[in-house]
Amino acid sequence: MRLGILGSGAGSNMAAIAEQCASGALPAVVTVVLSDVENAGILTRARDMGLSATFIQPGQYRTKLDEAAEEQFVRVLKEAEVEWVVLAGFMRLIKADFLKHFWHKVINIHPSLLPSFPGLEAWQQALDYGVKFTGCTVHIVDHGIDTGPILGQETVPVLDADTPQSLHARIQEAERRLYPAIIHALAMEDIRIQGRRSFQK
Ligand code: GRF
Repeated sequence: MRLGILGSGAGSNMAAIAEQCASGALPAVVTVVLSDVENAGILTRARDMGLSATFIQPGQYRTKLDEAAEEQFVRVLKEAEVEWVVLAGFMRLIKADFLKHFWHKVINIHPSLLPSFPGLEAWQQALDYGVKFTGCTVHIVDHGIDTGPILGQETVPVLDADTPQSLHARIQEAERRLYPAIIHALAMEDIRIQGRRSFQK
């Protein structure tokens, strides 16, 4: 299974996935890593792992890609013959024109148990709300924000002593387990989606 990974941050999810591909634990290959942030850790980390890593100028908007950028992302992904687009901390919305090229082949990891706490800083939202458990969710990307069919979730306790940082770190540990596990299931064609529901063999 050929993966293209998009991220804007440190790249810990990308690294977890790429390590498992390299060791053979995941029957997949990371063909390209793309970022909208020129100095993002994800690019340096990917290059250190010997992966192809490219910055693409996102354009004039803050929360989405402009048309030219969107076209370039799609072009590079197609040239790399990517089958699944893996969003790993990519901080811009993926819009319809992009999605139509990879419909139901774009997945995302979100740091909460969706549908609770969509959007930014989900760990802070969980602390502010006072929930005792939160977690992370891997889902198919559709036209909404963090709304697509859920493929998998892992729960994480919220401890009394938690700060936003300590809770986020605990969620990220879970992310590094969940994301490769879901990608493994997709590679084995073990996941079936019917409407909003997904079923794993
Ligand atoms: C993760 O916490 C992910 O849930 C969120 O962005 C963060 C990315 O971290 N969408 P990293 O770049 O994979 O280290």
